[in-house]
Amino acid sequence: MSDTSSPEQSSAATAFSAPPRPAPQAAVRPPRILAVANQKGGVGKTTTAINLGTALAAIGEDVLIIDLDPQGNASTGLGIDRRNRRHSTYDVLAGETALRDAIVPTAVPRLQLAPSTLDLAGLELEIGQARDRAFRLRSALAQLKTPAPGQTNFTYVLVDCPPSLNLLTVNAMAAANAILVPLQCEFFALEGLSQLLKTVESVREQLNPDLTIHGVVLTMYDSRNNLSGQVVADVRQFMGPKVYDTIIPRNVRVSEAPSYGKPVLVYDLKCSGSEAYLRLATEIIQREKELCA
Ligand SMILES: Nc1ncnc2c1ncn2[C@@H]1O[C@H](COP(=O)(O)OP(=O)(O)O)[C@@H](O)[C@H]1O
Ligand SMILES: [Mg+2]
Repeated sequence: MSDTSSPEQSSAATAFSAPPRPAPQAAVRPPRILAVANQKGGVGKTTTAINLGTALAAIGEDVLIIDLDPQGNASTGLGIDRRNRRHSTYDVLAGETALRDAIVPTAVPRLQLAPSTLDLAGLELEIGQARDRAFRLRSALAQLKTPAPGQTNFTYVLVDCPPSLNLLTVNAMAAANAILVPLQCEFFALEGLSQLLKTVESVREQLNPDLTIHGVVLTMYDSRNNLSGQVVADVRQFMGPKVYDTIIPRNVRVSEAPSYGKPVLVYDLKCSGSEAYLRLATEIIQREKELCA
């Protein structure tokens, strides 16, 4: 059978058989990416990632926590046990899995997680010579900017960094819009901060010129301890307005919650720790508005 249609007819026919154009959508805002970083261990990075993430989700944000610590405390603390970590951030950074395929839901609505496994500890040896080694997370996150129909349009990504200034933390800083630094209210709080700030500066120069310090959050404040008050004053003097008004108190409920695989906001919404993380989330959203204005 010969085709007798004229060029005009065939182009009209093609136009009709072409899929309908998607209705114009409001522009999708890319997620704000905050790296929760401090090379000191035990200062409250993971606790802040979990509970700030939960508080932001409670306020209506769509939040993704990326567990970038091989210890996987954020994953365990959100109740994702090792058997349910089919794909992990190791697979994502090794280039074997797309980030979306590693994401799992949590018990908290609007809060999702990319879990980690111990494999992540070996990543630096494996990709340490690759030219794009510092940009693996940034490339993986680029996928989130264009959600397909039915996929979550994340508004916040919180990256829980390991207690070291290694390639994993550098990946987080190279991918982030800003850094959020938890500082524990203890005698050595400021020690190491200048090293962290130097690393931020060199990442800004070499990898991510737009990187900023979002803020410093004081954690584990003990009102019965005079030292805590002194540390707050010192840190405010050193970091000025970068220090959030909200201070996270030392609160036993905060430390109990992870053993139940729950954020403290789910474990005990009314405790002082939950209230503080809700205030911090409100303050961060406010600061974001000021930054974007
Ligand atoms: N506000 C708090 N009150 C009481 N315990 C806390 C508080 N914040 C953190 N912790 C506890 O301190 C320890 C270290 O916190 P974590 O968030 O794991 O630190 P990091 O991730 O920086 O190593 C954990 O056992 C955690 O439960
Ligand atoms: Mg941690």
